[in-house]
Amino acid sequence: MTVASRLAPLLLAWWDRHGRHDLPWQQDATPYRVWVSEIMLQQTQVATVERYYGRFMQSFPRVAALAAATQDEVLHHWSGLGYYSRARNLHKAAQTVVAEYDGVFPTDIEQLTALPGIGRSTAGAILALACDQPQPILDGNVKRVLARLYALEGWPGTVANQKKLWEYAEACTPHTRVANYTQAIMDLGATVCTRSKPACNLCPLQSMCAAYKRGLTGVIPAAKPRKPRPRRAAVIVMAVNKEGAVLLEKRPPAGIWGGLWSFPELESLEAVDKWCAAQFGVDAPAKTVWSDVSHSFSHFDFDMRPVEIRMEASLRTLSAGVMEGERWLWYNTRSPADVGLAAPVAKLLQTFDRRTGGQE
Ligand code: ADE
Ligand code: SF4
Repeated sequence: MTVASRLAPLLLAWWDRHGRHDLPWQQDATPYRVWVSEIMLQQTQVATVERYYGRFMQSFPRVAALAAATQDEVLHHWSGLGYYSRARNLHKAAQTVVAEYDGVFPTDIEQLTALPGIGRSTAGAILALACDQPQPILDGNVKRVLARLYALEGWPGTVANQKKLWEYAEACTPHTRVANYTQAIMDLGATVCTRSKPACNLCPLQSMCAAYKRGLTGVIPAAKPRKPRPRRAAVIVMAVNKEGAVLLEKRPPAGIWGGLWSFPELESLEAVDKWCAAQFGVDAPAKTVWSDVSHSFSHFDFDMRPVEIRMEASLRTLSAGVMEGERWLWYNTRSPADVGLAAPVAKLLQTFDRRTGGQE
């Protein structure tokens, strides 16, 4: 027997004993009453909805009453539930039902999903819960239960996985006791197959659950993949003068390593020659490219490619020694100036010192 064919009987037997049977919208479950409850429950917990539902239904006992109300009246009843576009759509949809369907709530899935605020799962829930139509639903709870039963790989929100989940939901939905089954699978997700630490030892579906069998209930459903952190890359110039000192540049006060001394930063390897010509009046010095060094900032990773160049002459335009407020510094690792260095810069200078012995 397939998972799908074994599911409903086991779940219904569980629901008869352990499910929720006295939620206000389960009494006199008309499409209108179920619709209102489903919209309220979309982003709000059952306990909160229970406090609003009765008052709403008292004021708007049928769809015509809701359609005839002003938007202010509807929003007033919604006040505190949040996500007010739900209330505006509810009001608009009620007016459409009155205008186009003579005040009789449609029971056709296509007609329902055409109404504002009613997606495929909500339409399915209305028709299953109020009309016993064998329509699948796929709200957050059901998605989680099905993902675990079938040990769905990857994030459930991908197009491919959404398609699979709807197929599972369709295959599992029975043709009898549809309303009870639909309430049951939602109840199982809310009370047993919870997001963290599902109570598998109390679950009627344990024997057919692939995630349980493989010990994967803690990792299914998989989280939405996080966007990779942004990366930035730059070439940093380690210009070495005749005395073996390395040129440092003071970083602007704002931005990364603000006010600290670092290596001159360029966009690319190609920019090095131009920079040498501009700064030193020499062209195309021999370059030694070191392996990349990465540094993590809070919002991005920075990949630095150090390029070592040897200067024949000391620089005319650059002075020796630190001068307050100055931009350039020849830094000798054997007699280091007392300045603030960014951590990766200090490390690169140490490596440089080890490799060269500091002096030529
Ligand atoms: N969440 C969405 N629909 C629900 C329902 N009918 N009962 C409990 N929680 C729900
Ligand atoms: Fe969810 Fe555990 Fe039941 Fe599987 S066995 S459906 S993971 S509660």
